[in-house]
Amino acid sequence: MDIGVFIPINNNGWIISATSPQYMPSFELNKQVVQKAEGYGLDFALSMIKLHGFGGKTGFWDHGLESFTLMAGLAAVTSRIRLFASTAVLTIPPAIVARMAVTIDSISGGRFGVNIVSGWHKVEYSQMGLWPGDQHFGRRYDYSTEYVRIMRELWETGRSDLKGEFFQMEDCRLSPPPSAPIRLVSAGQSDRGMEFAAQYCDYNFALGEGVNEPQKCIDVPRRMLAQAERTGRDVGSYILYMVIAEETDEAALAKWDLYNRGADREALAHLLGHAANDVNTEATSMAAAIQRSSSPINFNMGTLVGSYANVARMLDEAAAMPGVKGLMLTFDEFLTGMDKFGQRIQPLMRCRSHVRLAA
Ligand SMILES: Cc1cc2nc3c(=O)[nH]c(=O)nc-3n(C[C@H](O)[C@H](O)[C@H](O)COP(=O)(O)O)c2cc1C
Repeated sequence: MDIGVFIPINNNGWIISATSPQYMPSFELNKQVVQKAEGYGLDFALSMIKLHGFGGKTGFWDHGLESFTLMAGLAAVTSRIRLFASTAVLTIPPAIVARMAVTIDSISGGRFGVNIVSGWHKVEYSQMGLWPGDQHFGRRYDYSTEYVRIMRELWETGRSDLKGEFFQMEDCRLSPPPSAPIRLVSAGQSDRGMEFAAQYCDYNFALGEGVNEPQKCIDVPRRMLAQAERTGRDVGSYILYMVIAEETDEAALAKWDLYNRGADREALAHLLGHAANDVNTEATSMAAAIQRSSSPINFNMGTLVGSYANVARMLDEAAAMPGVKGLMLTFDEFLTGMDKFGQRIQPLMRCRSHVRLAA
């Protein structure tokens, strides 16, 4: 069972509240997070790409770094952990991303992969004049399909002549090839998104759900398994959880209450408004999940709040869901959160006993 960390590339991580830790993203912060993760034997780190925030009194996600350049820097200061950067496919052509990926593969010694972001958040692109029109909501995975086919051809054969609907390659070249296969991941929650992952990706990321109900999202990895059975490819789910852990349940729950009381209502209203713009929303898509949420201060991602022992038990329960190959973690406070995970939680997890033995 892989464990990874979703690193804080934008301000305040994943809690939309005025009473949670307030911080700006920086290379130094992310370096410390990823170096701690590597030290505790975590398997991977992923940074998202988010180009427009949600404002409010916390200026939520109004401040963010760029994913590939951040991961290139992190590749140079780590040696074992696998690294994933995210490409927003509407913003950078596939031949350039393929070359950036080969560069980070070279810096990292074959530890690099790419998260394909098909685009659900229109304002990120319209602010740059890059939104192709609302028909993109319904065609985003067709666009991403051509995109990944071009990258794959370039990595595997050094050239692409693909003539598609969205991209026309003319004997496009790429050399040197990557030293190791560049893993592709995506994070579609809709059926169409999972179908795309089953065809072209190595893993699919998904949001967990609920508070202290680690298996509430059990249908999500099940749906991914069903899609993967259709293509015959081995594509597992990596599920995202937020960990808020303390010595006792009471202390952890008090923090969660505090964060909820400080919810940044204005930023939340913007998030819900932006999600509602996604006119192609399937019942299972992420935009729909955000709108359904009763307590969306952390995007309604699966949240595990409690003592170290209880969080370890719940993470083991999450890992036991069929189709789950990994868990990706966020924390309310990333530096202390990584230490608590590495020193207090992981040693109690059955599914991580191999890490304990290695240590
Ligand atoms: C773990 C995880 C990581 C994601 N990373 C990004 C990202 O970097 N940028 C972004 O705009 N959307 C990101 N998303 C959103 C998805 O890429 C996808 O666009 C969204 O789920 C909408 O697709 P759907 O309708 O198929 O669910 C992420 C979602 C998850 C669960």
